[in-house]
Amino acid sequence: MCNKKEPITLSQELLIGSGGRRYCYKHPYDENLCIKVDQTLSQNDNQSSREIKYYSQYITRKIPHTHLTQFHGTINTSLGCGVIFDLVTDSDGSISRSLQHYLRQGMPIKKIEHLLDQLKTYLLNHQIHLSDLATDNILLNIKDREKKLVIIDGAVNSDFIKICDYSEHFRKKKIHRKWHRFFQSFNHIENTVDS
Ligand SMILES: Nc1ncnc2c1ncn2[C@@H]1O[C@H](COP(=O)(O)OP(=O)(O)O)[C@@H](O)[C@H]1O
Ligand SMILES: [Mg+2]
Repeated sequence: MCNKKEPITLSQELLIGSGGRRYCYKHPYDENLCIKVDQTLSQNDNQSSREIKYYSQYITRKIPHTHLTQFHGTINTSLGCGVIFDLVTDSDGSISRSLQHYLRQGMPIKKIEHLLDQLKTYLLNHQIHLSDLATDNILLNIKDREKKLVIIDGAVNSDFIKICDYSEHFRKKKIHRKWHRFFQSFNHIENTVDS
């Protein structure tokens, strides 16, 4: 999935985070980008290959990147093939924190209800595929006084039978189903708020 150009080095200081499947690094030569590499060597059926497939479709469909990070192709790195995305940062230059982070800190759902509504409308309007709609895959992006939720992972179809690739009806149904489960997960987080 990657070209065999001279690999760029991803050093430990550039590491931003990990979600269990991949490591996410700051791009060493572009402060606006990040690079994700797999934690294991298996190149089959992994999240990055799915992203290459579905994000290329989003580009063809000209979907606005208001609530979804933009995909910038692949790059050969010292840790294997990486996928490049926009790095989501707040106006103070820091990397945006996840919704999970803010909820664990005790931020009331009420405060972000309108942002959640915006995100749901976006998902439905643009028929975004969803695999893991979860609070750690969504960042709360704060630019001056404007806040918005941005999906950084899980906007792909990982179903074995890919009926949602072909059917708008099933795609919408799935968004509603995933959204319902996502909403239910908030109760669990609220019960484990950091003291
Ligand atoms: N575009 C991004 N901007 C800022 N931070 C990001 C971005 N993408 C990922 N991250 C950080 O890296 C972590 C792991 O990325 P993620 O794509 O969720 O990996 P995984 O596939 O392992 O779940 C995220 O939880 C987040 O902290
Ligand atoms: Mg993740």
